[in-house]
Amino acid sequence: MRLDKYLADMGVGTRSQVKEKIRKGLIQVNGQVVRTPEQKVNPETDQVSLDGKPIGYVELEYYMLNKPQGVVSATTDRHYTTVVDLIDTKSRKDLYPVGRLDIDTEGLLLITNDGDLTHRLLSPKKHVDKTYYVETDLPIPTDAGERFAVGVTLEDDTLTMPAKWESQTENSGRLTIQEGKFHQVKRMFAALGVTVTFLKRLTMGPLQLDPALETGAFRPLTEEELQRLKELG
Ligand code: URA
Repeated sequence: MRLDKYLADMGVGTRSQVKEKIRKGLIQVNGQVVRTPEQKVNPETDQVSLDGKPIGYVELEYYMLNKPQGVVSATTDRHYTTVVDLIDTKSRKDLYPVGRLDIDTEGLLLITNDGDLTHRLLSPKKHVDKTYYVETDLPIPTDAGERFAVGVTLEDDTLTMPAKWESQTENSGRLTIQEGKFHQVKRMFAALGVTVTFLKRLTMGPLQLDPALETGAFRPLTEEELQRLKELG
């Protein structure tokens, strides 16, 4: 890999800022100053440093975020803070959220740059379960479980796949769906004549929101969580 790409990947600066640093003699490879941006380095064996401080190369990163409200599920936005902005300890600059939660939805969001894993989690063919905690403005019809189990017709006439409803109080509970249509949970409840007033994702496939993560907090996935995700096939 070229030295300037290595440094840009690790967020040291843009490609041109990085070239400037290299030309100024601020970068060392294995202790020797290198002034050529096109110099090849091996991320696994070469030690690259900036002003004598080592910059480890990280290829793939995985974070669990407990998304707060008011933050958008995007990588950049002109008006709002993004979920990627919240991950302030990231090494890579190419992280993105796996799927989207609405601006007013909270809860589990995986932030990574692993394209294969993203595909496996989001592919409609894989039927990955996602569980949401839901609160509504009005009492939820008592036959919600049966109706969601056979699928409900949304306002645009599409039929949802079977989903599982576990009632908790008369206006709250947990819904597990396998699809990811736009505003799906809110639209499923709208089909029952009630409005979702609070929505929080609790699980995605084998991943469960860590109860120790406060709203807005994040942490790297554990080896075990990563292993389970990779077993998804
Ligand atoms: N369904 C919704 O309506 N909103 C979300 O953010 C996620 C699922």
